[in-house]
Amino acid sequence: HGNSRINEQGRLEIGGCDTVELAEKYGTPLFVYDEQWIREKCRAYVQAFEETGFTYQVAYASKAFMTMAMCRLVAEEGLSLDVVSGGELFTALKAGFPAERIHFHGNNKSVEELEMAIDAKIGCFVVDNFYELDLLHALAKEKDVKVNILLRLTPGVSAHTHEYISTGQDDSKFGFSVTKGQAQEALIKALKMDHFEVLGIHSHIGSQIFETVGFVAAVETLSDFLLAIRAETGYELSVLNLGGGFGIRYTEEDRPLSAKEYIAPITNAVKTRFTAENYPLPEIWIEPGRSIVGDAGTTLYTIGSIKEIPGIRKYVSVDGGMTDNIRPALYQSKYEAMLANRANDDKNDLVSIAGKCCESGDMLIWDITLPEVKAGDTLAVSCTGAYGYAMANNYNLLTRPAIVFVKNGQANVVVERETYEDLIKRDRIPQAMMASK
Ligand code: LLP
Repeated sequence: HGNSRINEQGRLEIGGCDTVELAEKYGTPLFVYDEQWIREKCRAYVQAFEETGFTYQVAYASKAFMTMAMCRLVAEEGLSLDVVSGGELFTALKAGFPAERIHFHGNNKSVEELEMAIDAKIGCFVVDNFYELDLLHALAKEKDVKVNILLRLTPGVSAHTHEYISTGQDDSKFGFSVTKGQAQEALIKALKMDHFEVLGIHSHIGSQIFETVGFVAAVETLSDFLLAIRAETGYELSVLNLGGGFGIRYTEEDRPLSAKEYIAPITNAVKTRFTAENYPLPEIWIEPGRSIVGDAGTTLYTIGSIKEIPGIRKYVSVDGGMTDNIRPALYQSKYEAMLANRANDDKNDLVSIAGKCCESGDMLIWDITLPEVKAGDTLAVSCTGAYGYAMANNYNLLTRPAIVFVKNGQANVVVERETYEDLIKRDRIPQAMMASK
């Protein structure tokens, strides 16, 4: 995928850079992002919308992978940005991301986070619950400003995906339930609040979705809801945000659609339904995260210990693991990998790839056939660009990897490798303990 190939030395090359050289120069584990491929993913969504005639915003869901360089890239591509915390908002603002294109999500935004976002004049708050509706309104009133909001609704649709990453069903911590009447109550309430400009509604049905039926079902439920609201209040929305969740190909079993194949059925459903009801066509906003960065990221590891249990299994350990990719342990996610330094060698070694953390569940891949592995080989695990670094942690006090963006044979570090000093930077030893032996 993307701009990768096997070069003349039989090594994996990404964005014109030899990954074995990258591993030598920057160390491992190393996240390598194919910059041009991320840009092409952004453009595919823009293009898909351009063909529909709808007014739209494509907001990159920064939770999938957030660094200042990524913010710059997203800004350059003309996308908006979805943030879910003060930390993501701070990073976006520091990177110079245009505040009016920032959307703020989350089911428990703090007073401090809301004030920070109001002061920065962000484009839109996605209000999740009654508590936030009152809190945000009180803060806007205090500051005497009017803020744009969307209400996050749960349309009662459950996407066919892992339980932990499916969010559109009624029994969810997110949003106002449509079927339980809370959405109606919230919208009618919000419309009466002076310091809100109610742009519209939002729904996100889940993540790593391969079909469009869930999105179309959400459009149906939400349009029924909007028609009922119009009958009652006369309100017609201007923005319909359908969230993210578009899938990617981690392994051969995954069959994702193209940006166009995801978007066209959604916009067609909106057009058909709204036109039939004589309802003005809204702007359509979406929030892809994984599908922008997921298959643009590759993790390089160095292979170390190899343990063969005769007749049972061969464990091959790498110098990272659940600290840089917790997804296999958390969701039983599957990944593919290759030997980056001997990509053309015959594959005849059935192995399982283990991380180096003190936990049996720290396995990256069960049962994969590689060329016969040796300590010192470079292993490339593909499609690690989304929710890998984003969920990286310091378990066992492992340092988080460096990240490079590669493009046209050039590599640029966008996040430095964490150091041991970084690990203890915020540690403090109480005076009394300092004095003791
Ligand atoms: N919008 C909202 C409101 C969301 O909650 C999410 C993801 C997105 C957009 C972006 O979804 P995407 O296009 O990336 O699927 N850690 C999990 C994924 C959690 C997704 C959380 N919300 C994983 O590693 O699979």
